[in-house]
Amino acid sequence: MCSLAEEQGFETFRHAYRAAIKEVRTKIEILSEDFAVRHDYNPIHHMERRLKSPDSIEEKLERYGKEISIASAKENILDIAGIRVVCNFIDDVYAIADMLMEQNDIELVTKKDYIKNPKENGYRSLHLVLSVPVFLLNGCENVPVEVQIRTVAMDFWASLEHQLRYKKGKTLPKKVDCELKACAESSASLDVRMQRLFDEIYKSD
Ligand code: GTP
Ligand code: MG
Repeated sequence: MCSLAEEQGFETFRHAYRAAIKEVRTKIEILSEDFAVRHDYNPIHHMERRLKSPDSIEEKLERYGKEISIASAKENILDIAGIRVVCNFIDDVYAIADMLMEQNDIELVTKKDYIKNPKENGYRSLHLVLSVPVFLLNGCENVPVEVQIRTVAMDFWASLEHQLRYKKGKTLPKKVDCELKACAESSASLDVRMQRLFDEIYKSD
């Protein structure tokens, strides 16, 4: 079997995911601007996006024991298109998620709430897979986009944890794991305190 990138139609396949990222980004930008106009406040700190590389798609298909092909990637991999939305406060995370899920042309495929149910290592974030229609030359295609929504504090923890884990080749000494989890908890309690301050300032008048 040839590699994914050599298969016919590979560029068209990738283009649909690139277009889906643009669609969702635009939707989020519009929501954020509307927020700013109506409430004089912007819930979004920043956004990042990435298109999964062919190597990493192949690696994931192999890990899942699936065939390496475009059809199989479309069916089995939901995070080829990825957007990360970093918000200021916890309530902003849910506000953005709800506003996206309410849109008529968006379908919710999966939702994992690692804020209400943090991962064992302390990781927190709200993960949604949204399916969005993309209009291409050969018609309309529904394309999945993974949207990770988190606060600045959750993002700070996840970035540093990833850096430490990457450096040590994924497994860390138990002591480090425990300390990282404690950091995640301190960081989560800061998020709660900051949300209270926000409510005091913005909801008092
Ligand atoms: P993947 O094979 O990684 O896509 O796992 P999954 O399909 O079980 O999805 P999950 O929702 O658990 O995580 C997907 C993505 O969330 C990862 O690619 C990371 O970007 C992020 N993530 C999940 N867990 C962690 C974690 O423990 N630390 C950090 N830094 N990021 C994480
Ligand atoms: Mg992933």
